[in-house]
Amino acid sequence: MTAAIELTKLRFSWPGAQPIIDIDHWQVPQGSNVLLRGASGSGKSTLLSLLAGINTPEYGSIRLLGTEMQKLSARQRDKFRADHIGYIFQQFNLLPYLSALDNVLLGIKFSKRRQQNLSEPAAETAADYLSRLGLLPAQQNQPAAELSVGQQQRVGAARALIGSPQLLIADEPTSALDADHRDAFVKLLLELSEANGTTVLFVTHDSALAPFFDRHVELYDISRTSEEPV
Ligand SMILES: Nc1ncnc2c1ncn2[C@@H]1O[C@H](COP(=O)(O)OP(=O)(O)O)[C@@H](O)[C@H]1O
Ligand SMILES: [Mg+2]
Repeated sequence: MTAAIELTKLRFSWPGAQPIIDIDHWQVPQGSNVLLRGASGSGKSTLLSLLAGINTPEYGSIRLLGTEMQKLSARQRDKFRADHIGYIFQQFNLLPYLSALDNVLLGIKFSKRRQQNLSEPAAETAADYLSRLGLLPAQQNQPAAELSVGQQQRVGAARALIGSPQLLIADEPTSALDADHRDAFVKLLLELSEANGTTVLFVTHDSALAPFFDRHVELYDISRTSEEPV
């Protein structure tokens, strides 16, 4: 089966610095959920920025769901990502003046494919996800800026999951949650992903989350340049 993520001879350095990512070969099978760990500053967010197309590798190949990203035009890449990938960023970029619900709906706005994946009207799915993630109806209609950081993280998760993307990439999405909320959030995230057939790559430095995931990877073990974990 085609891998959800396949990286080959992938290398990236920030200007004036030593390579921070140097991966010979790494793949994530479709349908798996993977916890990627690494010390702070080891390059986890940098790796995700390459997968998200925010940064471009110096060289090497990024294949997502069998498609070689470097062979697509910038426009084709944007479309591919909108159709197939949900992201939850460390600094979740919600639109502050839009309601929680409207922020979730942004997740499918640019993808016909993800709109077609819905089995009920989009607003109902958005409200359902937010309710399951613990946001009351009144909170769902509040501007994102008026929500707590933990609530905003949950809105970011619902936005990434709506319309069943094939791949979900999450960068420390539980940093603002206490232990009980964190566990409930991760369980639900994985439950929704499994129901949708979504492959999950989840980055954290919180080892308490390990039991929830099928596979565990240390960035140190896949990247030749990462420093040994402390
Ligand atoms: N925009 C940037 N410009 C220059 N250097 C950066 C930038 N972002 C991250 N770095 C550097 O890359 C290294 C890895 O950072 P990062 O990928 O954020 O690590 P992690 O997510 O594992 O904590 C750090 O040394 C950091 O200073
Ligand atoms: Mg990071």
